[in-house]
Amino acid sequence: MKTLIIGGGNMGRTFASSFLTAHILRPADLTVLERSVQALEYLRGLNIENLHTRPADYIQEQNLIVLAVKPQDSDELFPTLKPFLSTKHIILSIMAGVQIDTLESKLGIKKIIRAMPNLPAQIGMGMTAFTANEEVSRKELIEVQNLLSTTGKAIYFEQEKMLDAATAVSGSGPAYVFYFMSAMMKAATKLGFNESQAELLVWQTFSGSIDLQNKNSLTCDEWISKVASRGGTTEAAMKIFAEHGTDEIIGKALDAAFQRSLELGKKKKKKA
Ligand SMILES: NC(=O)c1ccc[n+]([C@@H]2O[C@H](COP(=O)([O-])OP(=O)(O)OC[C@H]3O[C@@H](n4cnc5c(N)ncnc54)[C@H](OP(=O)(O)O)[C@@H]3O)[C@@H](O)[C@H]2O)c1
Repeated sequence: MKTLIIGGGNMGRTFASSFLTAHILRPADLTVLERSVQALEYLRGLNIENLHTRPADYIQEQNLIVLAVKPQDSDELFPTLKPFLSTKHIILSIMAGVQIDTLESKLGIKKIIRAMPNLPAQIGMGMTAFTANEEVSRKELIEVQNLLSTTGKAIYFEQEKMLDAATAVSGSGPAYVFYFMSAMMKAATKLGFNESQAELLVWQTFSGSIDLQNKNSLTCDEWISKVASRGGTTEAAMKIFAEHGTDEIIGKALDAAFQRSLELGKKKKKKA
């Protein structure tokens, strides 16, 4: 599948190097379109053979076009891209909040796949949710799933709304994890640890807990009960979480991210 990635920033270059490292694409079949001089320099270091700085005829020979620019940059990109597109092209958009029908109307393309990856994709540990419109064939969808799976796990959803929900859970999720880690590190320094000690205690606790969860099939509650004994130290901490409604706060935060994703989608649609 001849693939063009537009936008060689964090995500675009992650996709490019994952597709090549997994040998799912030959270097000759991968092209990247990037405008920033700095990003181009980085891409050259990744041995991307086909680099371009603006849309041109080479777009016509592509099968798949990955949109990996920021949503706010799409208004400038789309008019320059459209003259080179035809209905044979498949668009794979990873732009947060940009809906399939907006892409259809702005690009005049029939086959559209929308995906929401996350940052651990950079190390092949990503979580990508994806959906597609009915014009994409089963074969095409599987080919794209194979590409997405080179960056970690990929899960298909029939309903596009679930992409906005996945944005709130796994897309933004790494930031929540780092927020929690940072809060624990700050609290640890208040207990007398220096910063590097606090960092070691917290990072290794997260990493060990995740590895444990990956290797065993207990639920989170079952793991908690293995750490928290009645009347003990963990229970004292868990009581504070419960008293302050931490579950509800997390629920509200995820809902705010979900609503924001829907809202961004509506804004884009209005402008279309
Ligand atoms: N980062 C994440 O964790 C994450 C997770 C899920 C989804 N996403 C989605 O992935 C997309 C890319 O995010 P990112 O973090 O990779 O952004 P990024 O690092 O800013 O990369 C985007 C790149 O595209 C370039 N670009 C913009 N307009 C262009 C154009 N018309 N032609 C060629 N190149 C162009 C930008 O150049 P300039 O620097 O000159 O603007 C930049 O180098 C976003 O839509 C975001 O919603 C990101």
